[in-house]
Amino acid sequence: MSPSRCMFKGVLHWPNDTMTQLTYSDYLKVDELIDLQDPRSEPEEHDELLFIIIHQTYELWFKQLRHELAFLMERLDQDDVPRAFHTLKRVLKIFKTLVSQIDILETMTPLEFESFRSRLDTASGFQSYQFRVVEFMLGHKRPQPMQFQPEGSIGRELLEAAYHSPSLWQVFLRYLQRAGYTVPEDVFEVDVTAPTEPNETVQDSLLRVYENNHQLSELCELLVDLDEGLQEWRYRHVKMVQRTIGTKGGSGGSSGAEYLMKTLFKPVFPDLWDIRARIGVAT
Ligand code: HEM
Repeated sequence: MSPSRCMFKGVLHWPNDTMTQLTYSDYLKVDELIDLQDPRSEPEEHDELLFIIIHQTYELWFKQLRHELAFLMERLDQDDVPRAFHTLKRVLKIFKTLVSQIDILETMTPLEFESFRSRLDTASGFQSYQFRVVEFMLGHKRPQPMQFQPEGSIGRELLEAAYHSPSLWQVFLRYLQRAGYTVPEDVFEVDVTAPTEPNETVQDSLLRVYENNHQLSELCELLVDLDEGLQEWRYRHVKMVQRTIGTKGGSGGSSGAEYLMKTLFKPVFPDLWDIRARIGVAT
């Protein structure tokens, strides 16, 4: 019998000799992966597995987002606009997936969630360090998320690194400057740990981009899509929270939906929203 080419490039799969060949399960560590769900309810509540798998899936997508956003910044630093476009489009598709996954969790009724909720103890998505890293990479910087990650932990390390690195917006502004648009130096001189603030000179430059640089304005529109994607996730998450636990407090110790409502409609790229009212208006 002749060997057949496996889905993994260059690996030959012999039907009668699987022991010595790389298999799908070996490569993807499937045995370990499907052993990582550890429901805490006793007897096990049916819906807890879904709750765990959804959250683990989110964490995997957050990892991929960190990977893609880092690559996007690197490509912009290298003035590699085609790859930056390509990567940004992939990031947007991941955000769409993050939002649509909420539909699955919303099939869980308040009663079904209540059946195992106490088992979550104080665990909450609020403590997701990867989500906070993504926020930091997009420029939503503040020191508070660090306090939930013990010194020396992986989460703390990743958060500190993202906190002390330029955000996607700062990297984009550097690119804008290299492309010949006025971006005041003080935008870069502020502490990288500061949150993104709107800037009038930047907005004037962005208006010029929208008026006469089609390719760059398309890139700006993708950044608006990304900003809207994060806001969309926050909105869908809060609606899911409201329909599942109503006005109850969160397991992470916050006021729950009331707290989450305050995080809505806050853009990460405020300049791109502020200019909208001026686009096409003669000055
Ligand atoms: C039934 C499902 C869910 C409920 C009832 C719920 C509830 C909550 C609540 C009440 C908070 C506020 C913090 C606190 O716990 O006090 C919160 C925050 C958060 N949750 Fe969820 N959540 C659910 C599903 C998810 C999923 C699937 C994810 C995906 C990772 C997630 C990620 C987050 C994040 C990142 C925050 C922090 C948001 C922020 O501070 O801006 N949650 N959640």
